[in-house]
Amino acid sequence: MISFADEIKQGIPSELPALKAWDPSINHAPKRKEILSPAEKQLAIANALRYFPKEQHAVLAAEFAKELHTYGRIYMYRFMPEHPIFARAITEYPGKSEQAKAIMLMIQNNLDHRVAQHPHELITYGGNGAVFQNWIQYRLVMQYLSEMTDEQTLVMYSGHPMGLFPSHPNAPRVVVTNGMMIPNYSKPDDWEKFNALGVTQYGQMTAGSYMYIGPQGIVHGTTITVLNAVRRLAKTRDDIKGKLFLTAGLGGMSGAQPKAGNIAGVISVTAEVNPKAAHTRHEQGWVDEIISDLDELVTRVKKAQASKEVVSIAYLGNVVDVWEKFDQTGVHVDLGSDQTSLHNPWAGGYYPAGLSFDEANDMMANEPEKFKTYVQESLRRHAAAVNKHTARGTYFFDYGNAFLLESSRAGGEVMAENHIDFKYPSYIQDILGPMCFDFGFGPFRWVCASGKPEDLEKTDAIACKVLETMMAKSPAEIQQQMADNIQWIKGAQENKLVVGSQARILYADAEGRMRIAAAFNEAIANGEIGPVILGRDHHDVSGTDSPYRETSNIYDGSRFTADMAIQNVIGDSFRGATWVSIHNGGGVGWGEVINGGFGMLLDGSEQAQRNLTSMLHWDVNNGIARRNWARNENAIFAIKRAMEAEPLLKVTLPHLVEDQLLDGLFD
Ligand SMILES: NC(=O)c1ccc[n+]([C@@H]2O[C@H](COP(=O)([O-])OP(=O)(O)OC[C@H]3O[C@@H](n4cnc5c(N)ncnc54)[C@H](O)[C@@H]3O)[C@@H](O)[C@H]2O)c1
Repeated sequence: MISFADEIKQGIPSELPALKAWDPSINHAPKRKEILSPAEKQLAIANALRYFPKEQHAVLAAEFAKELHTYGRIYMYRFMPEHPIFARAITEYPGKSEQAKAIMLMIQNNLDHRVAQHPHELITYGGNGAVFQNWIQYRLVMQYLSEMTDEQTLVMYSGHPMGLFPSHPNAPRVVVTNGMMIPNYSKPDDWEKFNALGVTQYGQMTAGSYMYIGPQGIVHGTTITVLNAVRRLAKTRDDIKGKLFLTAGLGGMSGAQPKAGNIAGVISVTAEVNPKAAHTRHEQGWVDEIISDLDELVTRVKKAQASKEVVSIAYLGNVVDVWEKFDQTGVHVDLGSDQTSLHNPWAGGYYPAGLSFDEANDMMANEPEKFKTYVQESLRRHAAAVNKHTARGTYFFDYGNAFLLESSRAGGEVMAENHIDFKYPSYIQDILGPMCFDFGFGPFRWVCASGKPEDLEKTDAIACKVLETMMAKSPAEIQQQMADNIQWIKGAQENKLVVGSQARILYADAEGRMRIAAAFNEAIANGEIGPVILGRDHHDVSGTDSPYRETSNIYDGSRFTADMAIQNVIGDSFRGATWVSIHNGGGVGWGEVINGGFGMLLDGSEQAQRNLTSMLHWDVNNGIARRNWARNENAIFAIKRAMEAEPLLKVTLPHLVEDQLLDGLFD
């Protein structure tokens, strides 16, 4: 059998490998809807055959046509590698560039069967968040990375490696773009078509940028969100007990909700229609109990409320039924949200009430127009049921999955009286925006490239020490955030959050990120730990322009612009990032958001120290500067503080206008 290193170096095999058997034990992507005309289908096959020599075309043309017909996409299953895919220690990757090896490690983590949602279709999370479009792209990219030097940059066009281009050692080793389109051709159906043609892909946020670290990534953000949402309702830890949180989704990201509910100290009910997803989360210990009968659920929840338990319950079924049942049976919901994949409503992201899971899968592939009407009807019912609860005091927030957007488009009653805003806030408007992003706190993360759990433990301790030192001198405005983050990092080992690579997420501000990274680099130089890969979620202070999510608390009209995300990735790329990425679509859907991110290898060198200081400072302060210009009070405070700390930073500050000056100006 071919060794791991040899198979990586081989790239596209000269002989056709044997056909692979379909593995029913794997969670596969649903069939994508038929969208191509016969001529476009021919183009899709010709596009796919570009990777292969002519003598293989006849066999592969028939095979790819069958894949296109059966799955709606050409995944090139035959070319799945022999080696198991998971993040190995960096020393195990063949190659000439340590930075390229770090990227291989991260790519493999994104496709690890324990981590990825549909690993055989190269989907990491969110139903359609792709690392590559097909297995040949995986093979080619790994080969390029194994042969490139630090004098080259690999250029990635939506999963397709355009090739290696000469650059220089401090340039990014890889530059990724995903789903970038001419704006007028960036609607969901365009995406389906161009993706089926094999010329673009939906990279989500951290899928196509190789920075996904499993559900841990979102557990922290979800914990902060749920915790602060509960704090709006209850002042003390004792008041929190017995509060009920109702939501949906136990998938890639949404699976974090029950764990966050437990950490926040509430009762949570998370509905999930896909039995495989629910059982996976249960087996992984992310949710305590599974119930599939609605009456049993009501009894169980009432008992938990009476005894003020901290428990997470998965309901195997549709969330709309739960909202309606709780209304009919008088179960009081304190906190409500939703994390079905409504960024992808017509192709498996949202399962409508009234259809079984299998019926829905069948209809979305074979009768897509009818399926759409079912989804819209379900969203109207969903919104109506939520409205009944909120009328009785439930605090409902949109959790960044486009629930309010799609419900409004479906005619659900979710608009505010001004017919412009939604009647419920997004979690960014009420919670993460003002409390975290405006101060620069965001989802900083790192991966220990040695693959050793003891390295992760050491980095946790280093990060905790840095935060404790900083907290002693932090202003009152950010004491709560610092305390929450210290509590998180102290409990991180105990909460057993690692799935896949030895990774950690920690919300930190610009100063915190720079100081933690510098302390890691020093520990690497001293030989205490192996190399560390830094990164972050795109869902952050500066990386993402998304008017209904990350930038929904920008009120100067600029939330529909995307200068910040574009500036961010350009700025990161010349300040020392090891790789950068910029995506059209992610989280809330194609055409709805522009988001970017980076990865950076720390190897203990002085160059790494210079890079981390320069790049992390920009990577956070860019967004704070923009939020400050939008007149966000906490961002004005934060950017003034940043300017005091760094004399080379000089940001334009806004003058605030008295409201009464504007009153009546245009009456
Ligand atoms: N708030 C955030 O920070 C944040 C971060 C990342 C992603 N998101 C968004 O959250 C959404 C979920 O992401 P994910 O990665 O978990 O997606 P996912 O597709 O892996 O999971 C969604 C789950 O919801 C289930 N589901 C769909 N309709 C349902 C219904 N009516 N009732 C019960 N269950 C239903 C699906 O079976 C699926 O398992 C996406 O839209 C994503 O973009 C939000």
